[in-house]
Amino acid sequence: MDQRAADRLVEEWLNSAKWAASGGNQQLWHVAVRMADSGFEFHVSIPTRDVKRSTADTMGAGAVASLGCFVTCLEEVGRSLNYVVDSIRVISGSDLWSTAIRLYFKPSSLACATIDVATIRARRTNRFPYKDQRVPDFVIKKIRQVLLPELDLIDLTASSDKVIRFVEDMTLLRMGNKVLFSDLLDEVFWRGEEPNRSTGLPEDTLGLSRLLRMALRFTKRHPFFIHSRLVHGLSLYQSVRRPLRRSSHIFFLGLKAAVPSELSPAEGWVNVGRAFQRIWLILEQNGVSLQPFAANLILVNHFADCERTILGRSDIQRVQKSRDRLQFDLGIDGISPGIFFRIGYPLVSVAGSPRKDLKAEQSQRSTDDRADAIQRHQNC
Ligand SMILES: Cc1cc2nc3c(=O)[nH]c(=O)nc-3n(C[C@H](O)[C@H](O)[C@H](O)COP(=O)(O)O)c2cc1C
Repeated sequence: MDQRAADRLVEEWLNSAKWAASGGNQQLWHVAVRMADSGFEFHVSIPTRDVKRSTADTMGAGAVASLGCFVTCLEEVGRSLNYVVDSIRVISGSDLWSTAIRLYFKPSSLACATIDVATIRARRTNRFPYKDQRVPDFVIKKIRQVLLPELDLIDLTASSDKVIRFVEDMTLLRMGNKVLFSDLLDEVFWRGEEPNRSTGLPEDTLGLSRLLRMALRFTKRHPFFIHSRLVHGLSLYQSVRRPLRRSSHIFFLGLKAAVPSELSPAEGWVNVGRAFQRIWLILEQNGVSLQPFAANLILVNHFADCERTILGRSDIQRVQKSRDRLQFDLGIDGISPGIFFRIGYPLVSVAGSPRKDLKAEQSQRSTDDRADAIQRHQNC
């Protein structure tokens, strides 16, 4: 294949894969590609320049899970272009932010897309309440089939009150903390007012009433409004309690607690992200919507480095209590790789969040050279 044809193929590949999910719609994906033998080697990492890191994800766990989501979309789009994954390697760096993934795709005339590209491009995060209709067991069985042995999909539907309490607690914490809350507000935008935004969350995708969206806009313009209990209470009802109640199932996808894991934290978060995105696409293909709740990232960030936590003293007591309750009530430790989500049949169709243009850097070096460079850097 000549270089121009290869460039066109990679462009088409990325134009579809960029519709992967990412925390806060940040799309923290940096891609370098090189032609190798008759296939392609992709090196996917988290960009280090010109990106704003979210305060809600100081450790980078959400960014690494999002890298996993992106890799699943690369794999699925690759199949539709007649390329299959020959090898995949997670390269752990000195911290989660320096995680990279190397994928080698080889051509295959037998490649068969399991998920069509139209589904990948049309997938949306539906944050509105769902229909009062149960997702049938055969669909749940399908999503369980894609799990790697080290992952567990825990059905928490019967314990919805406990999940709601946890997510509400963490959301309230986020809204009550000045830094976390202003970060959240930065992510939200109004399409008409900021028409050129290609990351972040458009306010009409948040599942909130018009009144609350107006209050949010007011809050963004007048930061003194930050401690309004009325807005927080309404917001918790509309963004957590109501949608979680109006769902078919609530799940936690995470590393199996019982098996002592040989995986590095980076591998754990990548595996969760990859499985999560695949589950999401299978559900979409079956007409089922999904909304993630990454409320556990607050615990992940706090307990990884309690000394440098951005939480206040009373919040620290609350996270400790919430973590104990999570462990006691649901058997979830709160800091291992994992994500909560709800599923159900959509009542309304939702608008899409925008995407950045994703261009691949042409790479002459193999990823093995890069991995060695990272290793050398760590040893220094
Ligand atoms: C790791 C991760 C965490 C996420 N956390 C949340 C969340 O807590 N709440 C939520 O509503 N959406 C969450 N999302 C969904 C993203 O906000 C969504 O994928 C992104 O805004 C792009 O929008 P789209 O999925 O509609 O294309 C998460 C996605 C990922 C991959």
